[in-house]
Amino acid sequence: MSRFSNNRKNYLYYGDNLDNLRRFVPDESVDLCYIDPPFNSKRTYNQIYTNVGKEDAAQAQAFIDTWIWDDLAEKGFSEIMENSLGLFTSQAMDLLVGLEKVLRRESLLAYLVSMTLRIAEIHRVLKPTGSFYFHCDPTSSHYLKLILDSIFCPQGGDFKSEIIWQRVTGKSNASRRFPQNHDVIFCIIKAITIRGIKIAFILLTIQKI
Ligand SMILES: C[S@@+](CC[C@H](N)C(=O)[O-])C[C@H]1O[C@@H](n2cnc3c(N)ncnc32)[C@H](O)[C@@H]1O
Repeated sequence: MSRFSNNRKNYLYYGDNLDNLRRFVPDESVDLCYIDPPFNSKRTYNQIYTNVGKEDAAQAQAFIDTWIWDDLAEKGFSEIMENSLGLFTSQAMDLLVGLEKVLRRESLLAYLVSMTLRIAEIHRVLKPTGSFYFHCDPTSSHYLKLILDSIFCPQGGDFKSEIIWQRVTGKSNASRRFPQNHDVIFCIIKAITIRGIKIAFILLTIQKI
């Protein structure tokens, strides 16, 4: 019996996406995955709940986007290096070993380890015709692109697009600094090869989103 025998369709799983992917989502079962994870912005975001008809607003902390090299990061790094389920390519492992030399075991590497664990799970659950949209911003996008490539491309995948989303019209004084007003959405696909020809399904999925 599959370890995912409790898998349900059209079901919202609340909680840590890594845990949910590992527990509930079978291999090659997903057409399209989009994530908008923390960006490593080093900010704390609050969720604002307003009471209709009242003026007070209670704030609850939604999530902290500050990363530290802690036990969780250490455990994630070891998991990648041990690669017991074979989810990580040798390129992804080499990349993280190289990044560790450059970045040290500090904040940015902790963030990238966390994202690497999730990207590898997403690669696992995508169908061969599936595509993946990774929403981030320039804080870490150049590192994330390397990680995406290192997991998808050695396994037949293809990087398709870097979509730049201009969130607002720039207001800052360009004589001091160009406006920081865009997010980045990477699109990368798994692909199937039929008689040596790589077939990509990107157009179909773009029409669907
Ligand atoms: C950049 S925000 C995205 C905000 C949201 N897309 C929006 O437009 O309001 C990152 C989101 O990822 C969620 N998040 C952080 N860590 C997570 C995790 N391990 N599993 C699932 N969601 C997580 C946060 O709670 C937050 O809502």
